Amino acid sequence: MKKTPVIIISGLLALASCTPSGSSVSSPDNKIRFTVESNDGGLFYSVTDGGETVVSPSRLGFVLAGDEQAKDFKILGKETASCDTTWETAWGESRLVRDNYNQLTVNMQEKNSGLLVDLQVRVFDDGFGYRYVFPAQNRDSLIIMQELTEFVIPEGSTAWGLPIKSEYYEDYFYHKNIADLDSVRTPLTVEAPGRYLAIHEANLTDYPKMNLVATDSVTLVAQLVPWSNGVAAYVKTPFATPWRTMIIGDKPGDLVTSYMMLNLNEPQAIGDASWCKPMKYMGIWWEMHLGKGTWHAGPHHSANTANVKKYIDFAAANGIKGLLVEGWNASWEGDWTRNEHIDFTTPYPDYDIDEIARYAKEKGVEMIGHHETAAWTRNYENQLDTAFSFLTGHGINNVKTGYVNSRMDGKEDHSSQYGVRHYRKVIETAAKHHVTINNHEPVMPTGLQRTLPNLMSQEGVRGQEWNAWSTDGGSVPEHTVVMPFTRGLAGPMDFTFGTFNFENPVYPGTRVQSTIAKELALYVVIYAPLQMASDLPENYAKYPDTFQFIKDVPVDWETTIVPDAVIGDYVVTVRRDRNSDDWYLGAVTDENARTLDVALDFLEPNTEYVATIYADAPDADWKNNPTAYTITDRTVTSADTLNLSLATSGGTAIRFHKK
Ligand code: NOJ
Repeated sequence: MKKTPVIIISGLLALASCTPSGSSVSSPDNKIRFTVESNDGGLFYSVTDGGETVVSPSRLGFVLAGDEQAKDFKILGKETASCDTTWETAWGESRLVRDNYNQLTVNMQEKNSGLLVDLQVRVFDDGFGYRYVFPAQNRDSLIIMQELTEFVIPEGSTAWGLPIKSEYYEDYFYHKNIADLDSVRTPLTVEAPGRYLAIHEANLTDYPKMNLVATDSVTLVAQLVPWSNGVAAYVKTPFATPWRTMIIGDKPGDLVTSYMMLNLNEPQAIGDASWCKPMKYMGIWWEMHLGKGTWHAGPHHSANTANVKKYIDFAAANGIKGLLVEGWNASWEGDWTRNEHIDFTTPYPDYDIDEIARYAKEKGVEMIGHHETAAWTRNYENQLDTAFSFLTGHGINNVKTGYVNSRMDGKEDHSSQYGVRHYRKVIETAAKHHVTINNHEPVMPTGLQRTLPNLMSQEGVRGQEWNAWSTDGGSVPEHTVVMPFTRGLAGPMDFTFGTFNFENPVYPGTRVQSTIAKELALYVVIYAPLQMASDLPENYAKYPDTFQFIKDVPVDWETTIVPDAVIGDYVVTVRRDRNSDDWYLGAVTDENARTLDVALDFLEPNTEYVATIYADAPDADWKNNPTAYTITDRTVTSADTLNLSLATSGGTAIRFHKK
């Protein structure tokens, strides 16, 4: 149930003649203070946390077409407002989210061009966001070439940054000094002296993604992803840019449990969203990535009716709700990335979609369709309505989309305004058809799932598929203990873990670099409302007792806590199921084995729980013995502390069930 926000406008417009030179606004707890100042050099903001500088004076402004520098602003007036409300998520890591901030809007006019711009600032207890708002004015369209926005962060900071050149954001976040970062995507996670920061954006609508360029050891400058003609954004006034955001926390876990990005998105816009159902799913997928089957027609075509029925049977027998089928539409021959006419309504002859729809319904399994567009977005947009209608006509209300190609329609960047517009059109059209989307090769998420909860999950991460075929041998153990604090801050990740078989007959040099217990723990550590059990049914069948955890683990949470973590070393995440009193714990480590003490003080007091503990066996290690595990039941209460023992790249997964 959503509540209408309580917004109290408490300020007054100052007179234009007063030309105030600065204004401040503080967080509700008074700890974080954001100040805007205009002087002869331009417009700047700065931020303190508990009196200590977190952002030193940092420039604001734009470059418009014709090299028109919009940076010299006269402050005309200001308004303040505050909000304290709590809203309910359609699905997510926390059922309830408190939206509590103080707002400052500074009304300004650019001295040379006469352009009217408002800087709108919201300061929360866990960080701040600001955006530029162009009110309606006699200039009704603007061509933005670049933003001048800066983040000047504390000296001595280091950061986990994703290089701009990472295609589809599928790379590691590298831990570096700021000066060595060069150009990075956001989220950018910063370890500053005494605190953790995460710079990102919220509500990316009709605008390009913001990257950051490090110009020295403290300065990060926004760089908008341009169209192929060099323009960053075509804007019609009135218009609001995305929010530029910074989460501020004392410890890494504070970044994970901040919901500021969601608060800075618009409320849910699709009415009753009960059809956007969180679920676990399997897929006609891993076998193609392993090279055992093919997307295209032929003797090894995976999406054939008999094989799909085998997966439906397995999913139904094990309570896995969804089944993805890739390679079902007759367009995968040869180099399919060059196929500008991919057909989304013609199944391969050996994929009997009517029979599969009937069988899946009989077995209670929800099919997940696949639209690999190869980034030929015009071709996809031309078919969008018929493509969704075709699937819903066969009872398929979930679609995984894909954009494998370095450019959209041969020339535009996925993260440009062109890309952002396309993705939005797909999600909005899907919403009209009551179709949920799991978007691969996306623009980096910015919290849009609050407004459009049918956008359930996205890739934009170096996910499990790299562990099937990457020539570098697969992702290093550290990757999974960095992601929750970097890419994970942008929203659900379709990472697709759950491997139980670490031998790779097709690419023997490549493998999933973890243990079976770590694969289980990742279902708690890495959040998505769609979680894949990605391995083959025959591999799960070998370990029915461990597979039980995947069957049990929820995908929708009442609350989330990160009691202990060191970014890049280990993380312990605890979540309470949204639909029962059960709690779940996931602990994962990097290449180093370690022991961790976890106090169970999150459990209901004076209540006994059975803790079913899936742990690495004493002789487990990711390289030589990844499938060695133990499963133990223990009675515990909130007064207990558990000592967890994690193997190299290992983990522990626990279900707490009331006795
Ligand atoms: C890349 C996606 O990430 C993967 O999941 C999919 O199987 C292939 N593209 C084919 O669409």
